[in-house]
Amino acid sequence: MERSLREVDPEVAEAVLNETGRQANGLELIASENFVSEAVLEAMGSVFTNKYAEGYPGKRYYGGCEFTDVVERLAIERAKKLFGAEHANVQPHSGTQANTAVYLAALSPGDTVLGMDLSHGGHLSHGHPLNISGKLYRFVAYGVRKEDERLDYDALDRLAREHRPKLIVCGASAYPRIIDFERIASIARSVGARVLADIAHIAGMVVTGKHPSPVPHCEYVTTTTHKTLRGPRGGLVLCKAELAADLDRVTFPGIQGGPLVHIIAAKAVAFHEALQPSYHAYIDRVVANASALCSAVGRRGFRIVSGGTDNHLFLVDVFSKGVTGKAAEKALEKAGITVNKNTIPFDTQKPFVASGIRVGTPAVTTRGMGLPEMETIADLIGRALDSRDDEVGLARIRQDVLALAARFPLYARRLAAGGARA
Ligand SMILES: Cc1ncc(COP(=O)(O)O)c(C=O)c1O
Repeated sequence: MERSLREVDPEVAEAVLNETGRQANGLELIASENFVSEAVLEAMGSVFTNKYAEGYPGKRYYGGCEFTDVVERLAIERAKKLFGAEHANVQPHSGTQANTAVYLAALSPGDTVLGMDLSHGGHLSHGHPLNISGKLYRFVAYGVRKEDERLDYDALDRLAREHRPKLIVCGASAYPRIIDFERIASIARSVGARVLADIAHIAGMVVTGKHPSPVPHCEYVTTTTHKTLRGPRGGLVLCKAELAADLDRVTFPGIQGGPLVHIIAAKAVAFHEALQPSYHAYIDRVVANASALCSAVGRRGFRIVSGGTDNHLFLVDVFSKGVTGKAAEKALEKAGITVNKNTIPFDTQKPFVASGIRVGTPAVTTRGMGLPEMETIADLIGRALDSRDDEVGLARIRQDVLALAARFPLYARRLAAGGARA
């Protein structure tokens, strides 16, 4: 029982150490990723993973839940305080599970739903034909205008009148601009629909007032806890008090069994961290860094989708300089810079090739990088894309990435304990 991971399973221990090194030695610009604190990791790696706790605090189907109730109640209360919500369910295992719970609570199979076009920034759990959402419900897509690549609220209004949806889903995986939740809620109200705002990406900006909150306007709000919120991988649903009982029932026993209590404990820790003034300062820097990096990449001749960003991410139309998203992702990876290829609105390339890359600043900001480093990173990105067919050039940029990363240590104690060179 007391033997370490390295003693029990050296292969997995080695992979964990290598991954820690990969995260520390590279530049993480995937907009949906972040680095959690040691406190969050400790809660996630705790003995709560051993516990079965079907049900909710005070109403469990298993004995021995007194400490589970403590952490779940802490997570619920902190989530409510953080978002100003009437009810929180902290049990969804992921963002997709959180959305699925809302669909089950708000809809019957075959109902019509409006959701953001996936190729304009929506998420696969908003009606992709292979996702349960697209299989069970009739999703109709709305999107952005061609001229300015911003959400077309007038078209959304027209679609709502034409299709009379039961639910409007808003929120995105790749939309760099403010979303007008109040306007969407008013469109929904005019046709008798409810609204689900999926703020998986922008939750950090919402809780710090950097993005208008959907909570006062929308019946349901979902989020992941692992992106800008900087917690463990997981989901969260917030809703109005009168919808709480239904929501809890569709989550458990509707779509899940036992909750992941160790993850709920880590959610509680992340929410506590997000309630601190230092988290506000962090989110301010995330947004300032995104704006600076976006401008600096734009100055290197790449077209920026919608011309800029209001949040933590932006989309670069790399095809504006003849590079596909796929080639860009690969070249940057060789240089130690991680991004993901992404379709851009009205893309002419197939989704697996794509014309764009999505770039986000939550992770590098957690490491302490600021405005001067954003200039350096833009330079590294520009050089790597220009050198995409030049292995020697990319290897040289890799060395510059290593030097930059070394100035902002990450998980240094873990690396040292694992015997890795810093
Ligand atoms: C807007 C949005 N909703 C939901 C999710 C799904 O989260 P998960 O991967 O935890 O299912 C994501 C993930 O990227 C997302 O961007």
